[in-house]
Amino acid sequence: MIRNKVLISGTHMSKVFGYGLNKTTAVNDVSFKFHEGEIISIVGESGSGKTTLAKVIMGLLKETNGEIEYKGKPRKLKSHRDRKEYWKDIQAIFQDPFSSFNIFHKVDKLLMDCIKLQGLKLSKDEQFLKMKEACSFVNLKFEELYNKYPFELSGGQMQRLMIARIFMMHPKVLIADEPTSMVDACSRSTILDMLMKLRNENNMTIIFITHDVGLAYYVSDTIYIMEKGKIVESGNAEKVILNPQHKYTQQLISDVPKIHEAWNLG
Ligand SMILES: Nc1ncnc2c1ncn2[C@@H]1O[C@H](COP(=O)(O)OP(=O)(O)OP(=O)(O)O)[C@@H](O)[C@H]1O
Ligand SMILES: [Mg+2]
Repeated sequence: MIRNKVLISGTHMSKVFGYGLNKTTAVNDVSFKFHEGEIISIVGESGSGKTTLAKVIMGLLKETNGEIEYKGKPRKLKSHRDRKEYWKDIQAIFQDPFSSFNIFHKVDKLLMDCIKLQGLKLSKDEQFLKMKEACSFVNLKFEELYNKYPFELSGGQMQRLMIARIFMMHPKVLIADEPTSMVDACSRSTILDMLMKLRNENNMTIIFITHDVGLAYYVSDTIYIMEKGKIVESGNAEKVILNPQHKYTQQLISDVPKIHEAWNLG
């Protein structure tokens, strides 16, 4: 049970793309409250609006309606300075790791940028140690990778590199949009464990976006179920998964008949 302070909340958020006949309401009157140190999963089928909602929360897309409060105050993203402050606190890992990196920068530069973004003044040795530590947090070897470009890494290595960057920057909120999509089942659970470690060690709030109800159940405190732009059910993860009230949630869960065995629920 999460009793921490509310860190970020949204009321009546909507996002409409296009006009007239081409209009799509990707997010439709969604409200949420995310607490400090909470892991929240947003679960829904493809096209249900998960990534759009994530981008609105990030401030990468402007909401059509609704308001976001961050740390108890209306979120301001007007000036360059507002946005810089906000993005120091809220960071995202998106579905396609290539979109998160400058592909012309090698691994060491990608990690160095995190040190610079934080404004840390470190000696060469300290920089090296910090980058090494971040890589070992995600089971990567800095010595083997520092001189490589992102396209020379495997999908799984790239996703772990993104988590290493998050580890270095320790934002207050991490939005992880299908961060396990490019890896096999074994690496998937490692990545999920790393996310949980980030929460446990840094009290990070993690918003985890997935199609997979089983994964959501495994990682999260709270689940929001999204269907066609709307949140149809939300609450404590166990409650939502073991006693779903909404028809759509029941259907998502029945698509994973082995959920009980898979997560050793007996
Ligand atoms: N930039 C855009 N312009 C117009 N329509 C868009 C845009 N981005 C998303 N949409 C539409 O909004 C709806 C929700 O898309 P979104 O990417 O948020 O879904 P999703 O739940 O993340 O899906 P997936 O699980 O496949 O990633 C879809 O109908 C999509 O076509
Ligand atoms: Mg998406």
